[in-house]
Amino acid sequence: MDLSKFKNINDFKAIAAEKLASQAYDYLTGGAEDLRTLERNKLAYAQYQIRPRRLIDVSSIDMSIELFGRKWDTPIILSPVGVQALFHPQGEIATAKAANQQGHLMIASTVSNYSYQEIADVCRVKPWFQLYPTTNLEARKTLIQRAEENGCEVLVLTIDVPTVGNREKHAKMLTDNVHGRTGTMGNLKGLLNPDDIFHDLSMTWEIISWIRERTNMRLILKGILTYEDALLAMEFGVDGIIVSNHGGRQLESDMSTLEVLPEIVNAIGGKIPVVIDGGIRRGTDILKAIALGADAVCIGRAFIYGLSVFGQNGVERILAILSDELERNMRLTGVTKIDSINTSFIRKKQW
Ligand SMILES: Cc1cc2nc3c(=O)[nH]c(=O)nc-3n(C[C@H](O)[C@H](O)[C@H](O)COP(=O)(O)O)c2cc1C
Repeated sequence: MDLSKFKNINDFKAIAAEKLASQAYDYLTGGAEDLRTLERNKLAYAQYQIRPRRLIDVSSIDMSIELFGRKWDTPIILSPVGVQALFHPQGEIATAKAANQQGHLMIASTVSNYSYQEIADVCRVKPWFQLYPTTNLEARKTLIQRAEENGCEVLVLTIDVPTVGNREKHAKMLTDNVHGRTGTMGNLKGLLNPDDIFHDLSMTWEIISWIRERTNMRLILKGILTYEDALLAMEFGVDGIIVSNHGGRQLESDMSTLEVLPEIVNAIGGKIPVVIDGGIRRGTDILKAIALGADAVCIGRAFIYGLSVFGQNGVERILAILSDELERNMRLTGVTKIDSINTSFIRKKQW
């Protein structure tokens, strides 16, 4: 099917709303409590304006970035999103093929329907693996080892789920599909006992050395929201961080990721990569996040809207839309390289 008639992320969201089972759609679009954090993630981007410069040669635009010695064509990364077979039968395989085809980095979730190995098998450059630590230490160790054995170079530890957020609208969906059904999850099949849970209430900073002792993969923390934790992350020697509030699905804090980005970038001082996610729906959002100091961005719901109805083609179209928007808006802003996008290109709305 020709997907060119879908012009932006919202067009895909509309068709997902029409075609997805309502429970799956609620699960995808839902968040914690009154959804204020979820909404604020998006609204924060509207609070910033872009300051374009004129009469600059923008005939050639380079959107590439480098992360841990690998070059990527754009700063757009696919967030870890669990149980993608809820949205399309090909689930994470369709996403991986699209990411691979378009040269984007994918992060594969612990709670994927397909296993990390199945996902990695369709990718030239292996996805990063996102770890939910689980209370079962043997299972935790196995998850880490399997990722490494299958070529994973970077482990992403999600640290904002000591317990699951109060997602009223899709609580039942979560219990039915995520907690109670590890048998449908490629990585967890046969690995967890009925009493084990995939998050760990007692996790502390000590988990970093526990992980370091068991793998040579690089380690990134996903879920940092304060400069204090950014400083601690560096003290504990992690290789990078993702500024994230889980797309507003965990704590209803009313703090958007874009708002906290500057204090974190300031604390990190360029020593390790800072990635941001939450609320990114346009190329201008990406430009603003980079201007405020992010090295790269992750998109979550945006690519799942594409996966939902059209599988691999849909994800490819979403990635093409966002890449085109970023490229066009870099031209319109008068900036030709990602590295050159800085705070001089942005200001807070005055009224
Ligand atoms: C349906 C859904 C499932 C998710 N599953 C995971 C997961 O398994 N692991 C994880 O670390 N984050 C998960 N997240 C959070 C995303 O990785 C990311 O932080 C968030 O979606 C970014 O916000 P955005 O959707 O506004 O782009 C999930 C998000 C959604 C919407």
